[in-house]
Amino acid sequence: MLSAHLSSENPVEALSASITPWLERKVGELVAEDFRRAHVFSQFGIDFCCGGGRALANACERAEANPEQVVAALEAVSHSGAKEDELNQLPLDQLIDYIERTHHQYVRAKAPLLLEYSEKMVRAHGEHYAEIIPFAGWVRALIEDLMPHLMKEENILFPAIRAMSQGEQVQGCFGHIGNPINAMQYEHEEAGQILQKLHELTNDFTPPEYACTTWRVCYATLVEFEADLHRHIHLENNILFPKALQLA
Ligand SMILES: [Fe+2]
Ligand SMILES: [Fe+2]
Repeated sequence: MLSAHLSSENPVEALSASITPWLERKVGELVAEDFRRAHVFSQFGIDFCCGGGRALANACERAEANPEQVVAALEAVSHSGAKEDELNQLPLDQLIDYIERTHHQYVRAKAPLLLEYSEKMVRAHGEHYAEIIPFAGWVRALIEDLMPHLMKEENILFPAIRAMSQGEQVQGCFGHIGNPINAMQYEHEEAGQILQKLHELTNDFTPPEYACTTWRVCYATLVEFEADLHRHIHLENNILFPKALQLA
């Protein structure tokens, strides 16, 4: 038991009983149970690979990471899994509300920033670092694809799925609901291809040593944007669309 190894000066002793079970677990086991925990460990500089055999309390100490903060981040990750189950249980109209409020709003908030940062990079460094020009072009292409995509979902497909989920007959100009769903899935693939292009151009969003702050912020924003888009597309492709097709 971890508590048996704690001296009275050890700050871990003061931690609440609720986080102690986490601290006793081995880091490698925690990652094996849920790979998303690896991102938390990376964030805190905790070695989950070679150091995977260490108990979390010890790993936190070695990384000089605050155990309470680490456990809070691990619990947040676990909670996001539970949320996925909750989303899977939602009626389709409520799932659409969630997608619009969370992910569509996120794209609309971050798209202007990505354009601003990438255009600033072109103005400041495009002359000396030629790779910035195609990079900014693909960022623009991604945004120009996504904005009308959101509009099509909000104005055509989602109202039809909402009506179906409330038991109404859907008489859209698009014929069977499978047609707009196919079109949206095709556009998701196109966005994925553009992101792949951006990965290739940026060495997986790794800023070069000489990168200025805007350059670094731009790549970091893209990493976050991509993660949000993956989750957004996952909810549509793997939960919303198959359920809508079943209703039809
Ligand atoms: Fe969407
Ligand atoms: Fe979509």
